[in-house]
Amino acid sequence: MPLRTIADLPDSQFDGKRVLVRVDFNVSVNNGAIGEDYRIRMSLPTIEYLTKRGARVILASHLGRPDGPDRQHSLAPVAKRLSDIIGRSRTPIRFADDCVGFEVEDEISKMGKGDILLLENLRFHKEEELNDPEFSKQLASLADIYVNDAFSTSHRKHSSTYGAAWLFDTRLAGFNLSKEVEYLSMIRENPKKPFTLVVGGVKIKDKIGALEHLLPKADKVMIGGAAAYTFLKAKGVKTGNSLIDEERLSWVAKALSTYDDKIMLPIDHVCATSPTDTSITMVRGDIPSGMSGFDIGNETIERYSAEVGGNGGGTVFWNGPMGMFEIRAFSNGTVNIAKSMALAFWRGSKTLIGGGDTLEAMKKSGVAENEVSHVSTGGGATLRYLAGDEMPGVVILNGY
Ligand code: 3PG
Ligand code: MG
Repeated sequence: MPLRTIADLPDSQFDGKRVLVRVDFNVSVNNGAIGEDYRIRMSLPTIEYLTKRGARVILASHLGRPDGPDRQHSLAPVAKRLSDIIGRSRTPIRFADDCVGFEVEDEISKMGKGDILLLENLRFHKEEELNDPEFSKQLASLADIYVNDAFSTSHRKHSSTYGAAWLFDTRLAGFNLSKEVEYLSMIRENPKKPFTLVVGGVKIKDKIGALEHLLPKADKVMIGGAAAYTFLKAKGVKTGNSLIDEERLSWVAKALSTYDDKIMLPIDHVCATSPTDTSITMVRGDIPSGMSGFDIGNETIERYSAEVGGNGGGTVFWNGPMGMFEIRAFSNGTVNIAKSMALAFWRGSKTLIGGGDTLEAMKKSGVAENEVSHVSTGGGATLRYLAGDEMPGVVILNGY
């Protein structure tokens, strides 16, 4: 049975009902200023679908990993941003100072049809992450219907994604979650060929599961970012002081010997003695001792771009930047991959990007969100889903 989404319930059943929507508003907030708001924007179709049908929409999210209540992790700035986006400045999104308790219940009792209330950070209660039964009960008592639209948090077995959800009879997928599941299952089960994979970033550990699942299906796999140096080292190339994941060397060596014909590694590198070193050296082959690689070099860029841009109507999945792109001198690899992703898209390939940094990297490269078939809101969740792991926040939904 396919996942039941909010579109599968007759409109009349939402009228006047309290709907608890688990969203992922875990965005970067710095002194009250919100950075990338993609996750907030992606929740609008679900929120507005519900408000238009007369639901009282109660939004619940976490923000960061606080140790207890603190202003830095308050969702108040997100309520403001959501109001700005929806353009309801005359009837702003209401904000509750907590996520459970009498005051919240009181706020909810005052809601009219079509009103929106954002609850304060769920993780201000440690019970959320513990999936505490009592806390789950309190959360569930706030509403009549449960909706999960937080794909990017669905790998967590927390109260708001699991324990509380179970206590509702009606547990539906929001539009963003169902779109994520649809695209990522396509990649996981049946990517349209040729299937090109571009993997960068630093942590190999987080990607092993996804790689194990995708390597057999992929036609070409290009490795960049710090991850590449571990692959190169496993091949016997000298990597100087570059970041190496020693613990994963043996896994990498095995992957290399099994998939030698599809894995492509950088052949040249942008090197420096440290990230702040302004004198950069282009190195081909071995990296001299005392130096580290911080980006892929021009020849590698040319090869990788040709593969991505020349995918030819199949599927390209990109996760993780090619270098330390926050620093301009080391951003060329990432910028060029982003541009070839756009080219592949315009030429008819299905292109997907995933992982927290990757959207930021893409935008810095001047590639727009609508030049990609799908941008996943997930970081860890996306990789876990691709690895075939069970997602507690998805399996609890009706129809799964
Ligand atoms: C994320 O940003 O990956 C999700 O919001 C989950 O956050 P967490 O890793 O702190 O659970
Ligand atoms: Mg995370």
